[in-house]
Amino acid sequence: MALVSVEDLSIVFGGLAALSGVTLEVDEGEIFALIGPNGAGKTTVFNVLSGLYRPSAGRIAYAGEDLLRLAPHEIARRGVGRTFQNTEVFRQLSALDNVLIGEHARLRSGVWSGALALPWVRREEAAARQRALGLLGRLGLGEAAGVEAGSLPLGSQKRLEIARALASEPRLLLLDEPAGGLNPTETRALMAVICSLRDELGLTIMVVEHDMDLVMSISDRIAVLDYGRKIAEGKPREIAADPVVIEAYLGRDEGGA
Ligand SMILES: Nc1ncnc2c1ncn2[C@@H]1O[C@H](COP(=O)(O)OP(=O)(O)O)[C@@H](O)[C@H]1O
Ligand SMILES: [Mg+2]
Repeated sequence: MALVSVEDLSIVFGGLAALSGVTLEVDEGEIFALIGPNGAGKTTVFNVLSGLYRPSAGRIAYAGEDLLRLAPHEIARRGVGRTFQNTEVFRQLSALDNVLIGEHARLRSGVWSGALALPWVRREEAAARQRALGLLGRLGLGEAAGVEAGSLPLGSQKRLEIARALASEPRLLLLDEPAGGLNPTETRALMAVICSLRDELGLTIMVVEHDMDLVMSISDRIAVLDYGRKIAEGKPREIAADPVVIEAYLGRDEGGA
């Protein structure tokens, strides 16, 4: 069953077609990679899916609903979580507080009513804290809970961003270049984390990534974008052997994701 169904999606920025007629379906429980050279339109797909960009044309169904009728906060409430290509943690807050901010998007009490110290608010806060600590542990950041996020190594900041996205209990998680800037050891740890989110939490995951080892080993299916058009889609083995992909992308020296 498709959780996300993107049909004929186009978006134009000042005369430049960033996406042209892109159609793709992502099944519930799938790890689906979007790859392609820089500027191909990968982040733009995520920005449309999270409601930040309005497309010029096309339709998107998410869990049976018309996603393009929803505001960004409504999309988030329906379980679309994401991370950003440029890591965006709150640098001066602790790792734990970074995750709690993700939880507050969902809690009844909100960020400020905690100050009222009503019993149910305090119970909710305590439960939120436990969940946040659990998420940090899942992402290998258990020791870093009290550490200022900005002082963590990049690999940890990237995992912290994923923990924060998970705090809102997403059903669909969009990861934009999660391995960007990571060393091979950190990348391998990240791959295990991503697979566990699908295998243990049942998430559907869309990932944009430059690291071909990561893409080829964790993805169920891959779509390739080039100049805003989808030029190929298939299983990793099919994509790696597709002459159109090799010509348009994998064969180019400049790299890209
Ligand atoms: N907000 C925007 N305003 C103008 N141009 C944009 C905007 N967002 C993306 N673009 C352009 O759309 C194209 C695709 O961008 P992007 O989706 O970020 O590519 P990718 O993530 O594949 O590297 C690029 O040419 C980029 O400059
Ligand atoms: Mg991008």
